[in-house]
Amino acid sequence: MTVIDLRSDTVTQPTAGMREAMARAPLGDDVYGEDPTVNHLESWLAERLGFAAALFVPSGTMSNLLGLMAHCDRGDEYIVGQQAHTYKYEGGGAAVLGSIQPQPLDNQADGSLDLEQVIGAIKADDFHFARTRLLALENTMQGKVLSLDYLAAARRVTRENGLGLHLDGARLYNAAVRLGVDAREITQHFDSVSVCLSKGLGAPVGSVLCGSDEFIAKARRLRKMVGGGMRQAGLLAAAGLYALEHQVERLAEDHAHAALLGKALGELGFDVEPVHTNMVYVQIGKRAEQLKAFCAERGIVLSAAPRLRMVTHLDVSAAQLEKVVTAFAEFGAR
Ligand SMILES: Cc1ncc(COP(=O)(O)O)c(C=O)c1O
Repeated sequence: MTVIDLRSDTVTQPTAGMREAMARAPLGDDVYGEDPTVNHLESWLAERLGFAAALFVPSGTMSNLLGLMAHCDRGDEYIVGQQAHTYKYEGGGAAVLGSIQPQPLDNQADGSLDLEQVIGAIKADDFHFARTRLLALENTMQGKVLSLDYLAAARRVTRENGLGLHLDGARLYNAAVRLGVDAREITQHFDSVSVCLSKGLGAPVGSVLCGSDEFIAKARRLRKMVGGGMRQAGLLAAAGLYALEHQVERLAEDHAHAALLGKALGELGFDVEPVHTNMVYVQIGKRAEQLKAFCAERGIVLSAAPRLRMVTHLDVSAAQLEKVVTAFAEFGAR
C-alpha cells in the first residue's frame, strides 16, 4: 500500500533530478569556506532575494535562531506572534541560547500581527525594561499569506521605531507563488530572511539565512558556536539549488490540490478553514485520535490534532487525495 503522508511538506523524498544534481555536485570543506556548491547556493539566493550575503544551515530552526541572535544581544527583546514557529515550536531557543526575551502578541485571523499592538509593545528606553530590537514575522503563517501592503506597513513601523525586521520564510516561495510575484517583492521589506529548502521545495535538508554582510558574518560565527558548521555540505546545497531552480513553480500544484481537498471536505460537512496555499486546517475535535487510526488503516498518515493540519506536497497526487476524501466520507458516516 502506498502511504499518503499529509502531516507536513517536510516528508518528501528527493526527486530523481535532485539526486543526480547531488551526485554531480563539486564539494569542499564548507567550514573553511571551500565548498563551491554551498558558496554558489549562498551567493545565488542572496542575489535573487536582494541581500548582500547568505548562510547555508542545517535547519529552519537554526536559521531562525542565528537570525534572532545576530539581531539581538543578551537582554534584548523581539516581538513575535503567539503562533509563530520561532516562538512556539523551536524549544524556546532564542531565550535559552540567546538570552533574548520574546514579547509574544496574538496573531490575527489572517496570520498577521496588529501593527498598533506592535507599536504598543515596544518598550521605552528605560533600564527597567528589556531593549526591544526586532519584529519577527512568518510568511506563510500556518498556510496564510501576508499581503505586500501589510509587509510595507510593518517595514514602516519598524523603521520609525528603530527595530530590525526578520522573516521566517520557511514557506516564502509558497507565499510568492500564491501572490504571483517574484519572491523579492516579499523579501525587499526585511532586514533578514530565513528560507527553508526542505519544506514544499522538496530538498532533504537545509535552510538559508539572508542578510547584510555584517549580519551574515555574525551568523556564521554563531553557526559554528551551535555546531552547525558542516563540511562537504555541497551535497545538500546541490539539492537546495535544484529545488530552487526546478521545484518552485510546481508549488501551484500543491496549492490547487489543497484547495480541492478543502472544498471536498467542506462539502462533506467538515469545518474547514479557508485554504490559501498548501495547508488545509479542519476542526476534528475529540475524534482526532480516532480519525488518525481510521486513516492509518487506509495508508493515510495524519497527525492527531483537534485542529487538524493536512499539508500537500510533491509526493501527494490528486488521485491520492481522492482516497483521502473517501476515507473522510466513510469516517464521517460512522
Ligand atoms: C514556519 C516554520 N519555520 C521554521 C521551521 C523549522 O524548520 P526545521 O524543521 O528545518 O528546523 C518550520 C518547520 O516546520 C516551520 O514550519
